[in-house]
Amino acid sequence: MNFLSTGQFELHDLNRLLESAAKYKNGHAARPLEGKSVALVFFNPSLRTRASMQVGIYELGGNAVILEPGSTSWTLEYREGAVMDGNKTEHLKEFVRVLERYVSAIGVRTFAELKNWEAERTDPILNVFSRYASVPVINLESAMHHPCQAMADMMTIHEKLGDQKKKVLLTWAWHPKPLPMAVPNSFALAAAQFGHDLRIAHPRGYELDEELIREAKHFAAANGGTVEITHDLEQAYEGVEVVYAKSWGGKDFYGNSDGDIAHRLQLREQWIVDQRKMNLTNSAIFMHCLPVRRNVIVTDEVIDSPQSMVIDEAENRLHIQKAILTELLK
Ligand code: CP
Repeated sequence: MNFLSTGQFELHDLNRLLESAAKYKNGHAARPLEGKSVALVFFNPSLRTRASMQVGIYELGGNAVILEPGSTSWTLEYREGAVMDGNKTEHLKEFVRVLERYVSAIGVRTFAELKNWEAERTDPILNVFSRYASVPVINLESAMHHPCQAMADMMTIHEKLGDQKKKVLLTWAWHPKPLPMAVPNSFALAAAQFGHDLRIAHPRGYELDEELIREAKHFAAANGGTVEITHDLEQAYEGVEVVYAKSWGGKDFYGNSDGDIAHRLQLREQWIVDQRKMNLTNSAIFMHCLPVRRNVIVTDEVIDSPQSMVIDEAENRLHIQKAILTELLK
């Protein structure tokens, strides 16, 4: 079994992960990875994912093997039938099948390159890992999904506000350059699966993937929640109990980063999360996956306030990933 998106699991499976994560957070000291190694393949930089996975694997009794293609391991090709006469030294077909002779699971981080939306929305690199691996593959953030982050987010909401459904705002925020959509995609999907009333606010031109929104609406309807999309910033904050901020790039601008940067410049001041907007909420908690640019995405006043849960949210990555590893490798 892989862990690629929360969408592949039923709500009761996700709830079981939250229960297991809470036990780990409360001191449960099981070592289900005793004698096992887990590979963590990072095509992109990381603080939280890398440190929390490495520490989590160690605390579960296992050993983490960290590989950085193009840096501490060979550059990798993933395209089927590629003539490898360029700068790629090894094909993922060999990389994955060799690696799984050594390890019991493979975690992969591979961001969107923001070049070709139609290709990247299919998660091509992650798919090659899952196609050739016979051990579990864990998505540590792909072009489309960041399920470990989304589960830590759901754990944080549950822990801070209880297990009843909440009014949750996912708001776009300005950032100097376009960023991938994996975090907002996975947050939207998971919030819908947990039956929250989800409001997504973004400027026109920054729509999330249509199929993903359809999937989120389907999950929300099945679990007693709703999904609403708004471009009205004032209305967006009204009455919500959670404000989740994230910047992302417009899919119509994939391959045209300069166009996105020029377009978003006019949005710079409007979309920051500040205290005035937080005052429109129902005493909402503030969440962000981190890293965050202070006074660009969110003001110091909000992120340093008692309503800010960003550090607990980051801590919960450790506990939920222990629960995921335990489930996959039991
Ligand atoms: N939120 C998150 O995934 O952080 P890193 O990019 O530092 O791993």
